[in-house]
Amino acid sequence: MKPIVIAIDGHSSTGKSTVAKQLAKALEYKYVDTGAMYRAVTLYSMRHNWIEEGNVDMAHIINSLPSIDINFEYNPEEGTNDVILNGENVEQEIRAMKVSEHVSSIAKIDEVRNKLVQIQKKLGDQKGIVMDGRDIGSVVFPEAELKIFMTASAEIRAKRRYSELKDKGEDISFEDVLENVEHRDQIDSNRKNSPLIQSEDAIKIDNSNLSQQEQFDKILSLAKQKI
Ligand code: C5P
Repeated sequence: MKPIVIAIDGHSSTGKSTVAKQLAKALEYKYVDTGAMYRAVTLYSMRHNWIEEGNVDMAHIINSLPSIDINFEYNPEEGTNDVILNGENVEQEIRAMKVSEHVSSIAKIDEVRNKLVQIQKKLGDQKGIVMDGRDIGSVVFPEAELKIFMTASAEIRAKRRYSELKDKGEDISFEDVLENVEHRDQIDSNRKNSPLIQSEDAIKIDNSNLSQQEQFDKILSLAKQKI
């Protein structure tokens, strides 16, 4: 069996990371959540007050990029990788709604993308990897053997995200989550650098009416055809 690269892109809250993790486990591949990397840079910037009331202090963020170190560390309890920002485990903090509110503004910055894409390419240079994000099939690994593009209606995605955040104890409204999901789609799809697009050779999966198991089975069988 030859190791391949599996690129999973798509809209926010389509369950990309859940299926990507399942797939990596089944194939004994490495899993990389690239959204987590953009979230970590966002958290770092927020902690330095470089994002306030919708204003982004680009100069400070760009100048500080060499001091931002992003790594992944295996979490044996979850069986997945946690994000480590300058030595600190920030896995929980980066998932908060306040980070989601700003992450797409940070992910638009060319210098941020260049830095993270470089790390992502390196992580996949041995193949045997499942990577999820927005530009994996189009920019990071245009030569990926399997490209999946996941989508679902905004309402369904917001419902899933809302219950996830509620389970974690966040005090939020469904309307705010829906607005965030739609706002991120809008910024991600319309930015100049690496917009969220479906590559021509990507297989589109609308999971509005698919169970997690059905979706996983479908993608696993596509992967097995390539291996
Ligand atoms: O995947 P997740 O929803 O956690 O990603 C958070 C945000 O990071 C996205 O809304 C998008 O703005 C940005 N992102 C990106 N490119 C990627 C992964 C994520 O621009 N490859």
